[in-house]
Amino acid sequence: MFNKEIYINRRKRLRAHLGEGVVILLSNNEAPMNYPSNTYRYRQDSSFNYFFGLQLPGLVGVIDLDEGKDMLFGDDYTIDDIIWMGNQPTITELGEMCGISHVQNIDAFTAYMENACAKVRKIHFLPPYRADSQLLLSKLTNMSVYDVNANASVELIKAVIALRNCKQPEEITEIDAVCNTGVKMHLAAIHHCKAGKIERELAGMIEGIALSEGNGISFPVILSQNGETLHNNNHEQILENGRLLLVDAGAESVSGYSSDYTRTFPVSGKFTTKQREIYEIVLKANMDSIAMAKPGLRYFDVHLNATTVIADGLTKLGLMKGNPVDAAKEGAHALFMPHGLGHMLGLDVHDMEGLGENYVGYDEQTKRSTIFGHASLRCGRELQPGFVVTVEPGIYFIPQLIDQWEKEKKFTNYINYNKVREYIGFGGIRIEDDILITQNGCRVLGKALPKTVADIENLMKQ
Ligand code: GLY
Repeated sequence: MFNKEIYINRRKRLRAHLGEGVVILLSNNEAPMNYPSNTYRYRQDSSFNYFFGLQLPGLVGVIDLDEGKDMLFGDDYTIDDIIWMGNQPTITELGEMCGISHVQNIDAFTAYMENACAKVRKIHFLPPYRADSQLLLSKLTNMSVYDVNANASVELIKAVIALRNCKQPEEITEIDAVCNTGVKMHLAAIHHCKAGKIERELAGMIEGIALSEGNGISFPVILSQNGETLHNNNHEQILENGRLLLVDAGAESVSGYSSDYTRTFPVSGKFTTKQREIYEIVLKANMDSIAMAKPGLRYFDVHLNATTVIADGLTKLGLMKGNPVDAAKEGAHALFMPHGLGHMLGLDVHDMEGLGENYVGYDEQTKRSTIFGHASLRCGRELQPGFVVTVEPGIYFIPQLIDQWEKEKKFTNYINYNKVREYIGFGGIRIEDDILITQNGCRVLGKALPKTVADIENLMKQ
């Protein structure tokens, strides 16, 4: 964790965004896999981590806005716990680590909440995404469990997002480092890719790298020759020469920060002409987006430019026709790229998605498009220095979507379905980097991960 001044300052800045009442931030509990004491790898709640830095279950952080007091509640471990888990810090020691002197046990927290409810004080909490937190909030606030999420504090959500969206120098150092782990994972996948292996062998190997350098993967590894399925977590195919392998994977650091990269490469080590032509279009969309991203520009406009590059490239290859600018604007490109250009990245791989994507990636000035494809853009708002976003254009040939659009005669003015049919079985290509918005432009985070056709082919020769 960072030094305690960082957390003291973050809580102070949060208070400055809020009016009256009490802020409650719950730590995540252990989550059982198949019986209570056999748990998944522990994952702290990202907002609790941001404001308190402690990566342990059973804690509650409270920021009393009216009394100007930060509190930490949690029970000390008993000798029975210590026999199994080793010595553990006391709640007093945990409080010291994050700069809090008001520490008490969980019974005291229950009493504190009863008192706050009796006085009808405003209770601010974030929308819970785990059932146990939802049940606890229901009990503490005397609210039906079904009403809890709808009663999450929009004021708190907006305040947390205002802070977490703009990464501070100490966070950028962490993200740079975890990006380097991501780079290692992808280099290993490229080096070890060989016909005859099972996708699972590569997926397991790169997950091991993430675990050896931090908390493990930042989301389940996407690694498949069927790259046209956007989130393909099935790793059971045998690698075959002639096919492309799409790998979308990232790591999470010990402090909880994420990286997220995608590379697509030929199993044989050499792109076919057809693969290279499509690859070069996606690469141009990726590189033009990075060249363009800067403060003051809406990420929607960077996305729109990337989709225009894709429509333009596909028009030159004869898969699309007409004016590519209009085609992309109207959403015809979405047959090939049904997702958005990118998302915020931080303590969550889709940063703060649990607080509401529209609050994170959109604002009063920029509302989400309703056009298929553009509507999937997770972050469209004006970029600010300190934002960390992914840049991940792609081209996919999804047989079911092609069938459906052709049947519906969708965008026949922009799409040459006969030509598109020649690409069924091609798979998909995505190229993804993580960027930091700086004062004048942007910087690609982490060490350079090769992405030109020549670089990839050279790397695979070694
Ligand atoms: N890299 C996975 C995702 O952005 O959804």
